[in-house]
Amino acid sequence: MSTSETQSKLRKSIADENQAGLVYIFDTTLRDGEQCPGAAMTEDQKLEVAHRLETLGVDVIEAGFPVSSPVQFRAVQRISRELETPIIAALARALPRDIEVAAEAVKDARNKRIHTFLASSPIHMKYKLGKEPAEVIELAVAAVKAARDLVEDVEFSPEDATRSEWPFLVELVSRVVEAGATTINIPDTVGYTTPDEYGALFAHLIANVPGSEGIRFSAHCHNDLGMATANSLAAVRNGARQIECTINGIGERAGNTALEEVSMAIRTRGEFYNLHTNIRTEEIMRSSRLVRQVTGMAVQPNKAIVGDNAFAHESGIHQDGVLKNRLTYEIMTPESVGLESNRMVLGRHSGRHAFKDRLVRLGYVLEEEEFQQVWNRFLDLADKKKEVYDEDILSLVNETQTEQEFQRYELLSLHVSAGTGSVPTATVRLVDRKEPEDPQTITDAACGDGPVDAIYNVLERITALNIKVERFRIQPLSEGRDAQAVASVLLKINDKSYAGKAVSTDIVEASARAYLDAINRSFVAQPEELMEKI
Ligand code: KIV
Ligand code: ZN
Repeated sequence: MSTSETQSKLRKSIADENQAGLVYIFDTTLRDGEQCPGAAMTEDQKLEVAHRLETLGVDVIEAGFPVSSPVQFRAVQRISRELETPIIAALARALPRDIEVAAEAVKDARNKRIHTFLASSPIHMKYKLGKEPAEVIELAVAAVKAARDLVEDVEFSPEDATRSEWPFLVELVSRVVEAGATTINIPDTVGYTTPDEYGALFAHLIANVPGSEGIRFSAHCHNDLGMATANSLAAVRNGARQIECTINGIGERAGNTALEEVSMAIRTRGEFYNLHTNIRTEEIMRSSRLVRQVTGMAVQPNKAIVGDNAFAHESGIHQDGVLKNRLTYEIMTPESVGLESNRMVLGRHSGRHAFKDRLVRLGYVLEEEEFQQVWNRFLDLADKKKEVYDEDILSLVNETQTEQEFQRYELLSLHVSAGTGSVPTATVRLVDRKEPEDPQTITDAACGDGPVDAIYNVLERITALNIKVERFRIQPLSEGRDAQAVASVLLKINDKSYAGKAVSTDIVEASARAYLDAINRSFVAQPEELMEKI
């Protein structure tokens, strides 16, 4: 088939899907989501999230920004090779090198897309790009043509579209559509727009861009004014047929549109929107938990859909109503997002079979060897605490999988002395695998204002890194006084932020491990090694 035949087929199938009311869910957790401080993931973690997104049913996965680092490139490449169903998109600035590298990274994907962008607002064109509007149009057209020479499916985003002039946007979008872009994304880059205004912008573009019926218009919102979900839904009410979003709404500053919110709004208010998505909403909770685990970013308890309290009815009047008829206070069932209402708590007498079954329900089918490691950890934990909850099990899986990755430092032992009237002191022994063939054991001690401060002082000295603790938090993982604690930290190491997380029944040990986790991540993600190597 010639490329013009393939293009007309693509445009025809977009027109049919638009007509049928299918809203594509474009997940950018691995790209825009990962851009928020401390959310950097390792290659293996990205792969794991990508597989989860495939199970969740997303249509497009924006797997990364390949030119920005070798880690990004390799992750996009591996995701492209391993996934079967979704379109794998790679981000590229409107520059020839970015586009070539993006195309190379997604080369092996069954369905691939290049997503190229260039700023279109007066403020960005003048101060960021230093370019006249006419030059911006030429560069955008050239970028789309270059991308179309390498792949069939090209998306273009006029960055800061919501602060751009409408006649200019119509002209720019018309020209890139003519050049071969089939998805037009309209980003609210700075989270500035409102639902009425954003909806009207889509209606205006669709009415004025020639050939718009064969184009998939897309919403991409940031949540600076708390309107990302409302804005995205206003866009689809006005003809957009793709929403760009992230799990748990993670992303730059206040975050991006939350996938779980828009997909559940379209499902729950189906009669109002008369639209549908391909999301298997029963997979939402598992996806949310995985992203919490790998990024170390907690979800606020009252967060819509995935917050701990989202389905909890505390007040007596509400409980009474729900018991009589769930619909009194429940607009969607916990099961519809994958929350099981009759959670079974495991303990030291639970058998391997019950444990395996629980893992499968939580979304993990493990190879025998890995299962055995998680099972051993479960037995250890069940000795320490009476009841083991889903959250505990997820953290056991996560710890086991993380342990299989390269870890420069490993904690061997920790001794802390603290108390009223004494100087808190920490003694630490760890292994340094700088030379993996010749690991060194290091022992050192330091004092501090408290036990955690003493530990962090000694670890900073051992690692000889310039470390600033930007955030430190301890939260219980489940219920009861014997609950495990999750310690999460955000460290600034040589001017870059890295999140770390660890779980233990001992909060002091969890604090030490979380700090080491962030340090270990800083050795895995080295964003500035450059692409010349590929
Ligand atoms: O917010 C934004 O403008 C973006 C673009 C790169 C699409 O993330
Ligand atoms: Zn964005």
